[in-house]
Order: sequence, then C-alpha cells, then structure tokens
Amino acid sequence: MKLRITCIPGDGIGPEIVREAKKVLDKVCDVFGHEIVYKDILMGGCSIDVHGVPLTDEAIADAKGADAVLMGSIGGNTSTSPWYKLEPSLRPEAGLLKLRKSLNLFANLRPAYLYPQLKDACPLKEATSAKGFDMLIMRELTGGLYFGDRKTEEVDGELVATDTLVYRESEIRRIAIKAFDVARKRRCSVISVDKANVLDSSRLWRKVVEEVKKDYPDVTLEHMLVDNCAMQLVKDPSQFDVVLTENMFGDILSDEASMITGSIGMLPSASLNDTSFGLYEPSHGSAPDIAGKDIANPIATVLSAAMMLRYTFNLDKEADSIENAVRAVLEEGYRTTDLLNGGENPRFTLVSCSKMGDLLAERIRNS
Ligand code: IPM
Ligand code: MG
Repeated sequence: MKLRITCIPGDGIGPEIVREAKKVLDKVCDVFGHEIVYKDILMGGCSIDVHGVPLTDEAIADAKGADAVLMGSIGGNTSTSPWYKLEPSLRPEAGLLKLRKSLNLFANLRPAYLYPQLKDACPLKEATSAKGFDMLIMRELTGGLYFGDRKTEEVDGELVATDTLVYRESEIRRIAIKAFDVARKRRCSVISVDKANVLDSSRLWRKVVEEVKKDYPDVTLEHMLVDNCAMQLVKDPSQFDVVLTENMFGDILSDEASMITGSIGMLPSASLNDTSFGLYEPSHGSAPDIAGKDIANPIATVLSAAMMLRYTFNLDKEADSIENAVRAVLEEGYRTTDLLNGGENPRFTLVSCSKMGDLLAERIRNS
C-alpha cells in the first residue's frame, strides 16, 4: 500500500519526536511491505518566521492533498517568545485551529491508558493505579468557545472581554455518533460530560446526546458534570470507557487524564472528519524548555502514528506492531526522563529521544 503522509514537525520538541515516529513508520513499511511518501510543511512559529503567518494556504492544500497528517507540536514559550507579541490570529496556535477547522476535523480521539509497566509513574494512590484504566476521550474539536466570536472593547471606561460558546444540534449529534460508534468497539459505555447545571449549550448537549443514545440500546449512557468528572478522574479513573465532551472541557480533561498515565508524553491523539483522512498528533505541547536536547519522550507521537495506521489506512496489524513495540520497550525497562519521576532507579535504563526511537523500530515485528 502507498501511504501519502504530510508531516508537520512544528516547533520546540516537534521536529525531534516526528523524526522518531518516521523512523518507526519506515520500519513498519519495511517489515510489512508498504511505501510511504512524506511531504513536510511548516506550521506554527517556524511558519511565522518564514512566511509571517502560522499557516499558509499552500500548506493547507498540502495537508488536504495527503491521506493523513502527522504532526509534532507547535508554539513556544508564551512569556518570552516574540511569536506571542503578535496579534492572537497570527500566533502559532492559530495555525493549528485553522487547520482543524479547514479540514473539518471535528472529532478528537484521545486515549488515556495506564500501561501496567508505568504504574510506578502514575501519581495516584497505589490502590487506585493498581486497578489500571483504559479510557478514550472523544473531544469535540471545531466548535464551542474555541470558534465562537470574541472581542475586547472598552465599556464605561474599562476593558471588557467577551468569548462566545456556541453549539448547534448538528455539531453535537455528529460527535455523539462518533462516541457511541467507538464505544461499541470498546466496553459499550459512554459518559457524557457537560455543565448542564449552568450552561444552555450543555443542556442542548445533553438533549441531543440522549436522542443519539436511542439508536444504541447496547451502549450505556451516563451524564456527568465537568467539575465532578475532574474529581472522578483522579479518584477512580477505571470507571471511564468513552468520555464524550465539548471542545474546552475536552482540552482540560485530556491533560488531566494524560498526567495520570504517568507522563503527558504517553498520550497520542487522532483528529478525524467524516472521511478516512486524519490529523495525528501527541496531546502534549512543544516543551520549548527541553527542545533540541534529545531528551523528549517520542512515544505519544509514535502511538499517534499507530492510530494513523489504524484509522486512516485500516492497517490494524501494523498498528498493533507499534503498540506491541511500545509495550516491549517499557517492559524491558527503558525510560525517557519524564517517565522516571526525576529520580534514577536501578530497575530502569534512561534513554534519549533518538535511542527510544531506535529501540521501538528494532522491535517492530510482523507476527
Ligand atoms: C491541545 C492544545 C491546543 C488546544 C492548543 C495548542 C491550541 O492544548 O491540542 O490540547 O487547546 O486544543
Ligand atoms: Mg490542550
């Protein structure tokens, strides 16, 4: 099979982690007999430096022209980087939001799974981490506060900032359908998260999700308020299978979920529309403080590449081979520094970003 992949290395640790993901993908293609054609595009701060904007129309066209996009991370230090002196629509993050919107990537899948080998790195109580957890956050990605009108104006002598939170029934319905569909392939449970005790958009969310549920008698549905969900995630994460939620809540809850997996460096993501096309990226940011040091954890990006093989190309065996390689490397005790909780441990071998990529690539098998 020929895989046409557009890569966005981006900023900070982005180029390093994408390099390792490509290393692993190349090995998968060798072992399983596929061909990959890569094309790199600029997005984020690196695009601002070259073109003055975080994403050009040509780059969007290159992304659209591929079967899938594999992304590292974008953005810099918001206090010190000159990119953040620009007006908001010209900053690095605006490029990512524009890409999500232009490609209609409304469904963001963020799996949070505690590898048994990483139980020590999980910051929760042992009795809680011992139970393990395996959830999928289904985050709506092209609506809500991120894309509503916003303005800052002077009213009665002081500045007033307004952000609007808008959801249409059709936007809620299509993401709810994705959540129920994926729940059927998992443990058949959806917990829909909202703030229906305060927000109209959440009350509409609940109503539409209830309607969609009628077509899925085999899937259970529960509603949970977002503040309670934030608490339940650290109290008993094993209760969650599919977590369905809107854009902003999903952004926040997915960072929380990633932390309890041991490191934010473990969480992949897929952003999908209604076709097989997808944008695959780690859930973490560009970590400018450690960029260029070859110490970042490439696993979230490598696992994002596995999601790409599964969701865009339907190559399940190939995706399994990557996930098995991750398990094997962790089992053998190899750890990037983020997975060591800052301390040396004789049971583990500290490895660099590029070494982790080598180890993963070496363990790709067709079996
Ligand atoms: C994420 C990130 C983005 C978001 C930023 C970079 C705009 O935090 O993908 O979770 O808020 O969606
Ligand atoms: Mg985020």
